[in-house]
Amino acid sequence: MPVKTIEVCLAPPLLTTLDIQPGSILVVADVLRATTTICTAFDYGAARVFPCDDVETAFALKKQGYFVAGERDGNRLDFADAGNSPFEMMHAEIEGRTLVFTTTNGTQAIRQASGLGKTVLGAFVNLPVLIEWLAGQNAGVIVVCAGWKNRFSLEDTLFAGALAESLLAHEGFILQSDEARMALDLYATVRNDLFGYVSQASHARRLEASGQHDSIGYCLTPGKSMALPVHDSGYLVNMRAK
Ligand code: MLT
Repeated sequence: MPVKTIEVCLAPPLLTTLDIQPGSILVVADVLRATTTICTAFDYGAARVFPCDDVETAFALKKQGYFVAGERDGNRLDFADAGNSPFEMMHAEIEGRTLVFTTTNGTQAIRQASGLGKTVLGAFVNLPVLIEWLAGQNAGVIVVCAGWKNRFSLEDTLFAGALAESLLAHEGFILQSDEARMALDLYATVRNDLFGYVSQASHARRLEASGQHDSIGYCLTPGKSMALPVHDSGYLVNMRAK
């Protein structure tokens, strides 16, 4: 059984410091809330998602008739059809449609990672299906934490730790770095009160200040989503779509 490494990139600027082996799988995580919300959009029938870097392009695509979901600093863009709450995806008319997503950190991290290798999206909500899939791949895994404005975030690092813990239970996986060890140890320390711990995180407090903290519990609940979003030619598609 070949060794499969687990690496954790604590914030997107650190991607340039990694030695990314050919064939590695990059798992982009923006637990609060972009990757959670995109998984939820696929659960509710979205056909594909265009991760869009900038507000101007999203606005132009909105004028062309696309469904646009987006935020800056957590607040919904005024021209968008939806903000960035997973709950909005449950009520929106998205079945069979191409969605345009633009967010402060998550969609930027997706675009950066997808230039470096095979890229899938991870969140607590799709952790079980993601682990099942990754365990069957003959590849090392790099968790790319979207963080906040190029900096570390607690919730994405905790997701990296949860993913590392689950992968280590499968044969062949080893930790690659101190970052991976730290993420694993942090998760082990707080796993019994994940909600309480994450509630103190800066983005959770930011969401609370703007009255948007209702989805935090959902965002931290494993198994809510069956989606496995993968980047393919500029779009995200759901590998688990029927
Ligand atoms: C992001 O991409 O920066 C986040 O998902 C922000 C948010 O919670 O909407």
